[in-house]
Amino acid sequence: MSRYLFLVIVILCMNASVVFSCKQKKDAQIIDINEVYLPLPDKVKHPDNNKPNEDKINLGKLLFYDPILSGNKDVACATCHHPEFGYAESLDLSIGVNGNGLGTERKFKTPNTIPRVKRNAHTILNTAFNGIDINSNYTPLNSPMFWDARENSLEDQALMPIQSYEEMRGPHFSQEVILDTIVNRLKYIPEYVQLFKEAFKDNGTITEVTISKAIACFERTLVTNNSRFDTYLKGDESAISQAEMDGFNLFKKAKCNACHNGPMFSDYKMHVLGVADNDKLKLSDSGFQKSYAFKTPTLRNLRYTVPYMHNGTFNTLQEVLEFYQDLSSGHSKNINVQNHQIDSLVKGSPLKVKDMSLIISFLNSLNSEDFDKSIPKAVPSKLSVGGNIY
Ligand code: HEC
Ligand code: HEC
Repeated sequence: MSRYLFLVIVILCMNASVVFSCKQKKDAQIIDINEVYLPLPDKVKHPDNNKPNEDKINLGKLLFYDPILSGNKDVACATCHHPEFGYAESLDLSIGVNGNGLGTERKFKTPNTIPRVKRNAHTILNTAFNGIDINSNYTPLNSPMFWDARENSLEDQALMPIQSYEEMRGPHFSQEVILDTIVNRLKYIPEYVQLFKEAFKDNGTITEVTISKAIACFERTLVTNNSRFDTYLKGDESAISQAEMDGFNLFKKAKCNACHNGPMFSDYKMHVLGVADNDKLKLSDSGFQKSYAFKTPTLRNLRYTVPYMHNGTFNTLQEVLEFYQDLSSGHSKNINVQNHQIDSLVKGSPLKVKDMSLIISFLNSLNSEDFDKSIPKAVPSKLSVGGNIY
């Protein structure tokens, strides 16, 4: 019987007009895999060697806001990842050491010899889910961090900005000594000594490892898993408007879901799109292994990740979409990237200008305001909370 059915299908497909529809069916099947979007999980996973407790989370939060972690005691993690800006900052390229102000107001003090950070700051929101696949599987100690995925967990990531010259370290300490310097500073503050003991119990010594674990533990509390789109995915069809629904379908039709898939709308893979370099930088940023590939970013909370792309060169979602439309012809916008290097998944995208506003409506349904915006009143070092931001 099944052999008979197979034969009938083959015969049908041999008819030219039907061959076309069979092929379409096949394409549709490939895309189907990516069409299954799950909401973000209710709970975050923690690594076995860094289980959360309230004391650890609170300690991580204080460290996140304390500029004592920077060479000149002027920059905290929160300087560039502030709740007022959705734990991102609204600057194209970050200003760390020797900067003043917050978000779009942030500028270098004069005189200045410190360069900008070469990339746009991610939001910390939902980084607990980095690496999540279309079936909601992920491993917290194997979750790609940064635009080139050069670190693999929030724990590993947390020590990087402290060692980076333009982000937090500054000119007065070498990369070799900065972490020991920070550890010693914290050991001299009795409140921190006490807080580390409470957070890590028997292993409560202040080390770079316990610092990174506490910060990562706090970061895993910064989640927004109930956007209107999540509510819709959980079965409440009235959670999104018809325009947003239409936009979602157009998003899939334009094959955005080839890379922006899974609960985070990211495949966490590297792709070459050939975004032009930001002319504020002296050197071209060649991304992952000098290949000009960058990690697919999440499409959640785009309200806060503006300006867009690894170097913040687009100020609106409309500009991003126009970029994709241009790209469908396969022409690179980056002089260092050849046309043939552009990822085949973006070439020939059927994105249409008239569909853009609906796609943008859909993307806005992925924003969520429901996250912890509280800021500690003071930090144990008595320095200014969040660094030089006011
Ligand atoms: C001067 C601004 C600045 C400071 C200070 C800073 N960051 Fe960032 N952060 C950035 C930028 C820029 C990136 C993207 C860098 C890259 O991809 O190469 C980033 C990326 C990240 C990411 C990766 C998110 C992802 O989805 O890949 C995490 C997590 C993070 N920062 C946490 C922290 C923590 C924790 C601190 C404090 C120890 C901190 N940052 C301090 C600017 C900053
Ligand atoms: C080939 C994989 C791929 C496809 C297909 C794709 N994207 Fe992207 N997207 C990326 C990568 C990679 C980046 C980051 C590029 C960079 O920074 O240089 C990105 C960046 C973005 C950003 C910026 C996010 C931010 O916070 O900076 C938006 C918005 C976006 N894409 C939306 C879309 C839409 C809408 C479509 C469909 C028209 C689409 N993408 C198709 C891989 C893809």
